[in-house]
Amino acid sequence: GSQHADLPTQLLIEIDRCGQLNSLKYSQSISEQHQKIVGAIKSLESLGEVINVVSSSAKCWSCTEEGHQISKEGSHEARLFVWLPKDGASVDDIKKTFPSANVALGACLKNKWVRKEGPLVLPAVPSISDQVQQDLQAVASGSTSAFSDKQLADYKKRKLIKDSDVTVFTVSKGPQFTTSISKQDAQLTKEMIESGQWRNKTFKPFNFRSKGKQDVRPGHLHPLMQLRSEFRQIFLEMGFSEMPTNSYVESAFWNFDALFQPQQHPARDAHDTFYVKTPGRAISVPQEYMQRVREVHSNGGYGSSGYRYPWSEEEAHKNLLRTHTTAVSARMLHKLAQDGFKPAKYFSIDRVFRNETLDATHLAEFQQIEGVVADYNLSVKHLIGMFTAFYEKIGIKKLRFKSTYNPYTEPSMEIYSYHDGLGKWVEVGNSGLFRPEMLRPMGLPENVSVLGWGLSLERPAMIMFGINNIRELVGPRVKMELVYSNPLCTVDKFQGSSLPPPGQAPA
Ligand code: PHE
Repeated sequence: GSQHADLPTQLLIEIDRCGQLNSLKYSQSISEQHQKIVGAIKSLESLGEVINVVSSSAKCWSCTEEGHQISKEGSHEARLFVWLPKDGASVDDIKKTFPSANVALGACLKNKWVRKEGPLVLPAVPSISDQVQQDLQAVASGSTSAFSDKQLADYKKRKLIKDSDVTVFTVSKGPQFTTSISKQDAQLTKEMIESGQWRNKTFKPFNFRSKGKQDVRPGHLHPLMQLRSEFRQIFLEMGFSEMPTNSYVESAFWNFDALFQPQQHPARDAHDTFYVKTPGRAISVPQEYMQRVREVHSNGGYGSSGYRYPWSEEEAHKNLLRTHTTAVSARMLHKLAQDGFKPAKYFSIDRVFRNETLDATHLAEFQQIEGVVADYNLSVKHLIGMFTAFYEKIGIKKLRFKSTYNPYTEPSMEIYSYHDGLGKWVEVGNSGLFRPEMLRPMGLPENVSVLGWGLSLERPAMIMFGINNIRELVGPRVKMELVYSNPLCTVDKFQGSSLPPPGQAPA
């Protein structure tokens, strides 16, 4: 008993026998769908050089819906003839019985299958053969080679058959031709490895062109996190190293006192700052340094007269959620002084917390971007140069500055950029040169200056994504679609600033 070979093997046997194989003709000769033959050819092709394949285009005939029905049930005229009683029927009766009576009767008369006698239609021959049905059956099974072009055109005109273009493959023997291909395995299994069987197997090559699943949604970075990684990249390109910002809880000492922010300063009030109840007191504040901070606050020094108030160690030891990442900058600058000063550039992008009144543009926590540069004899020019280069990398080219006040910087400048989309100047940062009252107690040499700037991550993000309410960017109301459809590169999209209209000043 010969086992029925699988389709690819059948094809190989046929090619071996005839030297060549035409996919369309072969599909018709074995009454198999052309698409299945093509699939088998593709799988043979993937084996390497077993076969050679040449593709061409050909016309392929198939039945229309009506053509299919006729191939199954017979032509209208044949059905009329079969139905017609021996002693005839009236034209009216025929019309009542057959929806396409006119066509059917016309064809019956033309074929001389029936004759008319007064109002009656009578059979004229004892039996008929339904050529139309046979022809359409042939078309349905794909064999149209016996038809003349005129016949095909005629059936097409009667809307019983239609033609379409198909890609036909002509297959011949390749250099590695064989009729006995060993079935390739698609997967290496545990059993194959254990038994050593894998040695004798051939494996199906990977199809790297396969489209794969089409409806899979991959993971996405939240736009804010994406923007953060792009900002991080910019800092790294500029030679900055990242500060360790992993603890949200900070002592008032590093968050405020080290920054020469007086203990009565309104920003230290519980209305603005979240204090931590447990543990309420910081354990480690460097003692010597703390005494120098106490001294500069209460009595001054380094050419400053200080704030002249009794500085409280108790107040400095309170724990809080850091209100800015400048607390981490202070720790880093202190460490830089302790380790023996060398010029340094630091950055961080992380969370800070403020007891804000929540509104469309403010949450109680946000991400702060911070840059710090410490070197000998830096000036405002260096500050402006540094962040001009930084903002340019995010597409903000025209900047304006407005002097402001920070307890820890002098001079201090707010940075503004004119936003075309919003049609106004928007604040994009705060900056300054750190005060000697902050740097000198840390132990930094007199000729060392440190410049810094900071901005929120959310602000440029809102501008970039055209979002007016921060809750659409952060928190449970974020639309997944924003996360899914956000382009891979966001910074390029930032339509930064242009020259302001003459005479317009920052807000
Ligand atoms: N800490 C400031 C803020 O929170 C930003 C800043 C950093 C300003 C460094 C000057 C120097 O807005």
